[in-house]
Amino acid sequence: MTDRYGVIGNPIGHSKSPWIHAAFARQTGEDMTYDAILAPLDGFDAAVRAFRAAGGRGLNVTVPFKLQAAALCDDRSERAREAGAVNTLRFDATGAFGDNTDGAGLVADITRRLGVTLGGARVLLLGAGGAARGVIGPLLRERPAELRLANRTVDKALDLERQFAAEGPIAAGGYDALAGRAFDVVVNATSASLAGLVLPLPRGLYAPRALAYDMVYGDRPTTFLEQARATGAATLADGLGMLVAQAAESFWLWRGVRPDTAPVIARLRAS
Ligand code: ATR
Repeated sequence: MTDRYGVIGNPIGHSKSPWIHAAFARQTGEDMTYDAILAPLDGFDAAVRAFRAAGGRGLNVTVPFKLQAAALCDDRSERAREAGAVNTLRFDATGAFGDNTDGAGLVADITRRLGVTLGGARVLLLGAGGAARGVIGPLLRERPAELRLANRTVDKALDLERQFAAEGPIAAGGYDALAGRAFDVVVNATSASLAGLVLPLPRGLYAPRALAYDMVYGDRPTTFLEQARATGAATLADGLGMLVAQAAESFWLWRGVRPDTAPVIARLRAS
């Protein structure tokens, strides 16, 4: 019998996940289906139960259900616990297992596809919301020389610094504290560029050959990437690569097979 998977959210119509997983299944020869599932805002748990009762094997979870997904699973990975959110559920005889593949997707996209080494690098993470929190543990496990957090609301960045202090060299502050510092990798995890806003980043932020990475993506370069280009970043990348790479991590969790992300990203970009 063909194994069933899907992505669940509200709204869900614009999700690229069904297309991405169909491409992975073709590429790897896995026998599976993958659908978009619209859950009512007050009906997430019931929609998951119905999917499991019909034999569903796994779900990706998107806005606004990632916290509810964390609450409903029987067991969670360490990285899901750290992130406080679940974007991947796997169902089997032992129950519902929750994982979070966002941070691993970001790290895989930076290191494997873009060929940038995070070990020993000076890394700056902008933002302190859910998107930032989900990637801190995986970034620290690459053993950067430093992971600097900067956020408009400094207290939120300081909270994250405290939460992750035992995991590696993390330090937090506001945007003004970035003056005079240079970084090899700068990751934007704020939602500012979605709104077309420019962050108050000082000049001189980018070391020679630095990578600027925006976790969001669009048809055109984001305001963060435009700013990065103008202020000396050597390499620019948007979140389309991370989107495909986090999907590949989910696929790996479900199927034990790791798809090649590069051709899938290229086809999405072309469309
Ligand atoms: P997400 O789950 O996408 O991370 P979030 O938890 O609402 O969403 O976090 C949004 C992030 O973008 C926060 O870091 C927020 O900064 P504050 O914590 O100070 O609110 C940041 N952000 C959003 N709009 C911003 C703006 N105009 N300037 C600077 N930071 C902004």
